[in-house]
Amino acid sequence: MAQYIVGNWKMNGTKAEAEALAFTLAAKAKDVSGPLPHVVLCPSYPYLVPVLKILEGSTLESGAQDCSPEANGAFTGDVSVSQLSNIGCTYVIVGHSERRHHHLEPNALIRQKAEAVIRGKLKPIICIGETEEEYRAGKCFSVLSEKLEACLPSSCVHSDILIAYEPVWAIGTGLTPSLEEVEKVMSFLKERLRTHIPEGDLVPTLYGGSVNAANARLFLTLPYVDGLLVGGASLRADDFWHIIMATERQEP
Ligand code: 13P
Repeated sequence: MAQYIVGNWKMNGTKAEAEALAFTLAAKAKDVSGPLPHVVLCPSYPYLVPVLKILEGSTLESGAQDCSPEANGAFTGDVSVSQLSNIGCTYVIVGHSERRHHHLEPNALIRQKAEAVIRGKLKPIICIGETEEEYRAGKCFSVLSEKLEACLPSSCVHSDILIAYEPVWAIGTGLTPSLEEVEKVMSFLKERLRTHIPEGDLVPTLYGGSVNAANARLFLTLPYVDGLLVGGASLRADDFWHIIMATERQEP
């Protein structure tokens, strides 16, 4: 299965910094003769166009951090999937825990967004994860099952979507679940996906939460981990490149 390394830059940096980061990564990618994983850079909206310009002719792709579920119209401040497609984006992160928390986004809205992304022929990276409280209460699996089911687009096929497991308590904290815990969760997600979607275990499942240059390879060696969704470390070219290269020995 193809591997994915996705950099979520969140609301960080200047245009010059975004361009420099994209330029450095694209240049490094050009020097690689062998296969690379899918590498997706997700800058904030204003920097998508300049980053996409730099990525022209490169194998690196770009994604948005969110989108509107609506097609077009009077939705001040929102960005539609067709607009993202129009500038050359290929992926959209939906349901990130920061949007769930700060913008009170419910599962139903996330599902609508994911459906809009698929209609627009882009790929949604649907994020799910448990809070610290839920983790401590031993509710991780039930919460994930519920969120997955509620966020999955209706009648999608396995090649339409990606799922990212991001424990909320691991995001930006330096904390991560143990490798054993991640493996159990990812195996569980594959099993749940199989029950909802034909050949659902072929849906790429990514881990995210305090991934860095030192631990990336450990996560990538786990069965059922098809890639990583990286926040802070994706803002540093050397660290992010190291993470991209950590997929290397996974290729057949
Ligand atoms: P960190 O890698 O900074 O923990 O962020 C993870 C994340 O939220 C990626 O979407």
